[in-house]
Amino acid sequence: MGATKVRTQVAIIGAGPAGLTLSCLLHGAGIETVVLENRSRRYVEERIRAGVLEQGTVEVLEAAGVGERMHREGIVHHGIYLQFAGERHRIPLSDLADGRSIVIYGQTEVVKDLIEARVNAGLELRFGVADVSVHELETDLPSVRFTHEHEQFELECDAIVGADGFHGVCRPAIEQHLRVFSREYPFAWLGILAAAPPSSDELVYTHHERGFALLSLRSPERSRLYLQCAADERLDEWPDTRIWDELHRRVSLDGWTLVEGEVLEKGITPMRSFVTEPMQHGRLFLAGDSAHIVPPTGAKGLNLAISDVTVLAEALIDSYRSGNRSGLAEYSRTCLRRVWRAEHFSYWMTTMLHQLGEDPFDNQLQLSQLRYIVSSEAAARTLAENYVGLPLGHRAVAAD
Ligand code: APR
Ligand code: PHB
Repeated sequence: MGATKVRTQVAIIGAGPAGLTLSCLLHGAGIETVVLENRSRRYVEERIRAGVLEQGTVEVLEAAGVGERMHREGIVHHGIYLQFAGERHRIPLSDLADGRSIVIYGQTEVVKDLIEARVNAGLELRFGVADVSVHELETDLPSVRFTHEHEQFELECDAIVGADGFHGVCRPAIEQHLRVFSREYPFAWLGILAAAPPSSDELVYTHHERGFALLSLRSPERSRLYLQCAADERLDEWPDTRIWDELHRRVSLDGWTLVEGEVLEKGITPMRSFVTEPMQHGRLFLAGDSAHIVPPTGAKGLNLAISDVTVLAEALIDSYRSGNRSGLAEYSRTCLRRVWRAEHFSYWMTTMLHQLGEDPFDNQLQLSQLRYIVSSEAAARTLAENYVGLPLGHRAVAAD
């Protein structure tokens, strides 16, 4: 039996933050989309990921119509701490970056809000699809083939968006047209979610001879904590007591202690830098993690995914409204400028804060850089304006 033919304007593969936000932005402009996700709704909603939203991301989520709970439950932060050589120093982000701030709100919550908005609007979002493949990308009638509930479909459309993450099928489908840049790091993050009130009012990024540690949070009752570990570390070698002991060793200060609590979730996050160029081939546009990965030290992954789809939404809306396809032609170039800025910032934060190996020279350079940041306003401002995110309108950081 042949495939059932269906049609939409924009086919979106992947129901992560990139795909879902794009579907909301396009719906707001009257453009029809179909979102295809290979996992279940439950799996997608329970996946624990990062939690720092730049102000620009917050504004886009508001525009997409999903700002209500984020404003109610998200926690606005105006600074972060850098800790090294046994001292903690505050970087006043908002004072240094034109009053801009960040919001702590889990990516998991963003995804739940986006799914709810789409489902409530009665719009097509299929979970549990299989055998997804993309076709006829170099024509005006590209298509996506997939299986859903044992039925085969062929979805014809005007454009396909590959928002299917790092392990998706879209990037490999156009591999021969892409150039890839990547860097692996010889370490990873062991992360926990704990039923413990945050020990610090703001995030603490810690440089320590035993390795990096990060104190973050999700709510007044939930802490999110990370430790640098080996790239090939096994979770079963880390019982909860060992995790807490190691966190205490790395972050404790005289007169300040870490509050412990039940460990609700544990996982290992690999560290990778990765960029593919261009982010488009024919009628297939890559967005978010399918096109680029940053190590999490700069908290940029989710924010980059949202800025990609903001650019893409504007370009698609323009092409439907006025037939002007220049935004689509420029999509990749526009995004990549911001992507590379975030790549550099994430690499810089990562290599400044982690133990890189045995060479004591690296350690001295890191400490020198950290001392410079906390003693020079110019250096602190560089960190602050990258951390809170350059304004979305600033995508073209400089003409090139
Ligand atoms: N078909 C359909 N869906 C797929 C396929 C496929 N073949 N392969 C993967 N997916 C889905 C994944 O299950 C996931 O839900 O695509 C989605 C991609 O979502 P994310 O990985 O969250 O990527 P993105 O939306 O780009 O968001 C980037 O997520 O990984 C974090 O740190 C990263 O915060 C950043 C953000
Ligand atoms: C998180 O809260 O999960 C988090 C915060 C800051 C980072 C990375 C992750 O740099």
